[in-house]
Amino acid sequence: MSDNTFGRLFRMTTFGESHGPAIGCVIDGCPPGLEIDVAEIKHELGRRATGKSRHTSQRREKDDVQVLSGVFEGITTGTPIALLIENTDARSRDYGNIAEIFRPGHADFTYFKKYGLRDYRGGGRSSARETTMRVAAGAIAKKYLREQFGIGIHGWLAQLGPIRTDNTLDLSEVDNNPFFSPDASVVDELEKHMDRLRKSGDSCGARISVVASNVPVGLGEPVYGKLDADIASAMMSINAAKGVEIGAGFDCVEQLGTEHRDEITPEGFLSNHAGGILGGISSGQDVRVSVAFKPTSSLRLPCRSIDIHGNPVEVKTKGRHDPCVGIRATPIVEAMLALVIMDHVLRHRAQNGK
Ligand SMILES: Cc1cc2nc3c(=O)[nH]c(=O)nc-3n(C[C@H](O)[C@H](O)[C@H](O)COP(=O)(O)O)c2cc1C
Repeated sequence: MSDNTFGRLFRMTTFGESHGPAIGCVIDGCPPGLEIDVAEIKHELGRRATGKSRHTSQRREKDDVQVLSGVFEGITTGTPIALLIENTDARSRDYGNIAEIFRPGHADFTYFKKYGLRDYRGGGRSSARETTMRVAAGAIAKKYLREQFGIGIHGWLAQLGPIRTDNTLDLSEVDNNPFFSPDASVVDELEKHMDRLRKSGDSCGARISVVASNVPVGLGEPVYGKLDADIASAMMSINAAKGVEIGAGFDCVEQLGTEHRDEITPEGFLSNHAGGILGGISSGQDVRVSVAFKPTSSLRLPCRSIDIHGNPVEVKTKGRHDPCVGIRATPIVEAMLALVIMDHVLRHRAQNGK
């Protein structure tokens, strides 16, 4: 299986499966001299962790990250940074019954057709357990961007199923509730919605928004390395992501040109429908991104599928699952944006100097 590496100059290679002994990553290209505080990485991992509320999977992983290389006396040395997290709460027996069947909405069918075999335990390599390492690497990128440029990267839940959560945008609320909602007043409604869904055995989708502020002008390449193209690719690489919007996104279909174009005055831009990127290059405005996540596929409600021999089967999922995968996606979306911007910071420096 190729393509386990993300980025060109800030390169993260991840490895591991959901129910293997461990997952990990190697980050190559991190500049030397960056102070690494493991507590900060753990903090980000804690934001993504399962089992923190009844609204996420009840798998309880400690996510105790070990830094194996690339850091000496708390400072990056410029050599590869290897991070490792042991899987301590995998329950593979839950997956014995799906060894020979394809769960709808999962990668089972395509993996099997492509490779002729698959690690069916917890989804194997296709599991969102892999995103743990994105969040860990993203924590390092976030720190560098914050310290060198004052770049802030903040995400939130913008919509869960039919419930809009971004009518009030109070970013200080995001980490105060289990949904990453920026509006405290809708948390009760979210709880009730999720409780109803869990009882019915169904799931729902979600939309996550993220903004990078203080991004300098000039990041991104004008043709094949467009900043927006790289962001879209990064977001679409997250499990269950089904759509990415930059700035006004699909709303631009109904906008008039006079409304959409962001007029410029000596004091700056008058709006930001472009989402902070023009011609693939950052404009200095906030980089604004939204990602749509599909509803969780693993449901205890029965559905039709086939086994590896093509026979019809009924699938009912066992195991511990997120009833709305988007609930835990906010830190992952933030991490992917940090990784893309970090990579482009180094790429810009490589071509243009400081
Ligand atoms: C944070 C997160 C948690 C997820 N948890 C689950 C889960 O518990 N059950 C499930 O069926 N899918 C879950 N998924 C989605 C699957 O990993 C994904 O749908 C599957 O691998 C197929 O890939 P695709 O949806 O990208 O095509 C999760 C996704 C994310 C981002």
